[in-house]
Amino acid sequence: MLEVLTRATGHLQKHGSTSARLDAEVLLAHALGVGRIDLYVRFDRPMSEEDLARYRGLVAGRARGEPVAYLVGHKEFMALDFLVTPAVLVPNPDTEVLVQRAVAIARERNGPMRAADVGTGSGCIAIALAHYAPAVEVWAGDVSRDALDVAQRNVDKHGLAGRVHLVEGDLLEPFPGEFDLVSANLPYVCGEAHLPAEVRAQPATALYAPERGAALVTRLLQSAPARLRPNGRALLEIDPAILDVAEQAAAVSFANHRVHRDLGGRERVLEAWS
Ligand SMILES: C[S@@+](CC[C@H](N)C(=O)[O-])C[C@H]1O[C@@H](n2cnc3c(N)ncnc32)[C@H](O)[C@@H]1O
Repeated sequence: MLEVLTRATGHLQKHGSTSARLDAEVLLAHALGVGRIDLYVRFDRPMSEEDLARYRGLVAGRARGEPVAYLVGHKEFMALDFLVTPAVLVPNPDTEVLVQRAVAIARERNGPMRAADVGTGSGCIAIALAHYAPAVEVWAGDVSRDALDVAQRNVDKHGLAGRVHLVEGDLLEPFPGEFDLVSANLPYVCGEAHLPAEVRAQPATALYAPERGAALVTRLLQSAPARLRPNGRALLEIDPAILDVAEQAAAVSFANHRVHRDLGGRERVLEAWS
């Protein structure tokens, strides 16, 4: 088994994976139906032809640029497991800083709170917020029906159907009432950007936005104040490339804003309030 793993790692490295060993291990554990940690006690065991064939198929998919999360059907985010399909963006560790800030806001309030998560995709932000902040009721929306189907499965998987409600439509339009918090990780990639294959494999509606990536973020910053309760806050994930435009839009709509950096030190989350 160790030899198979070593060969798969080399193959993935050759095809440009920057996390070849990890990818090879995650796919091997999936092919064998065991946890990754279990591989270490099985390294000296031979693999059946059936397991080998399954593993080769997964490694070939990864070498073609398919994200590991699509191949195995799930991804960890904020220490919770989320189902993912090619209908949704793969939850990204860079987004955890937004959720951590949202949970901190909820804890500071120390009481019931209504939150709206715009462009929810797999539902990872809405569900992680509801999981870690039990006083928060969350509405989560998306324009993609297929994404909302995945989000619903994740809501059910985490037992949060009573506190996370899904709505379909453009930005805040389908959301009922006013909110203490509006969160969003909307598409913010410029259409001309050169992206790696595993990013391009994700839905275009989850990635690209007009106006060099800034259109949806600015439109949400314009519409959010009318839907926020007094002391309400907006938390938007951004790319550093649209920071200037996003800050200008925030300065027009809100009295205050600040920027939070991600684990890699990049400006990643814009927080705005009045
Ligand atoms: C970058 S993905 C983020 C998904 C998820 N929030 C996450 O962090 O993994 C953006 C999501 O916004 C949705 N979306 C795109 N345009 C939208 C719009 N105008 N209104 C609401 N959602 C939109 C896409 O379908 C996609 O699911």
